[in-house]
Amino acid sequence: MTSASDWHWHARAWMARRRWAATGDQLAGWMASIGSAQPVPAQLILLGGSAGWMMSPDFLARFQCILLVDIDPWAPRLFRLRHGDTLRRHAVQLDFLCGDVHELLDRALATLPRACVLFDNFLGLDSIYTRSLDVTARRMRSIRQRMRGRLWGSVHDRLSGPGTADWRRAECWGRDWTAQSGQDLPQQALFAAVQAQGQWLDHHTEHVLPPGLRTQLIPWPIIPGRWHWLEAAWVEGR
Ligand SMILES: C[S@@+](CC[C@H](N)C(=O)[O-])C[C@H]1O[C@@H](n2cnc3c(N)ncnc32)[C@H](O)[C@@H]1O
Repeated sequence: MTSASDWHWHARAWMARRRWAATGDQLAGWMASIGSAQPVPAQLILLGGSAGWMMSPDFLARFQCILLVDIDPWAPRLFRLRHGDTLRRHAVQLDFLCGDVHELLDRALATLPRACVLFDNFLGLDSIYTRSLDVTARRMRSIRQRMRGRLWGSVHDRLSGPGTADWRRAECWGRDWTAQSGQDLPQQALFAAVQAQGQWLDHHTEHVLPPGLRTQLIPWPIIPGRWHWLEAAWVEGR
């Protein structure tokens, strides 16, 4: 992977603010649910946080110190542009490590040994980069092992593809979509809710979370006519 800024992503996110708002609200609700089984540490390792386009300010405000890790060298500047007010008002310190999470994860964990960790919507790209389901599955299992004893969570793509549902009125909103990690997704219902068409991509993120967790499924109209189903869960007390 290269360390160039992904201006395509930033431009898309900027222009999609209205279309992504309902997804952001659902993510904010999920982020707020952290800490139901154990106290939340004052430090956060935020992996793939980018400019925090879909980050909840209330969630950020819970921490004294955040270590952002992203391959995009522009991430901290853009993150400050977007969330500087919240960081200042709540005296949150923001530090940055630039590079590949898979190479920097151990260093980040050693830097903040008590921090909780959020994999912030980047693991769904993994099998596209590795081009191997085995390598991806091994990576995900090794991540789970390295997280042992921490409070950690992930939001990641599960499925994506074309869908003709209008994001302003689609029947996917206003319903709690849940699944259980390690079990099949309610695929037909997810497809129907966004009027799925044609071919859909499986992001092979089924091994990210330990089995047996209740997960939240969140629709994301990434561009007009194309939907993602995100999955999010916190792993606590394990
Ligand atoms: C879909 S964006 C998610 C952005 C963020 N969660 C937000 O709300 O704006 C994925 C982000 O992860 C970063 N990323 C993807 N793979 C990475 C990796 N292996 N190591 C570090 N950063 C990565 C990209 O640079 C990008 O900023």
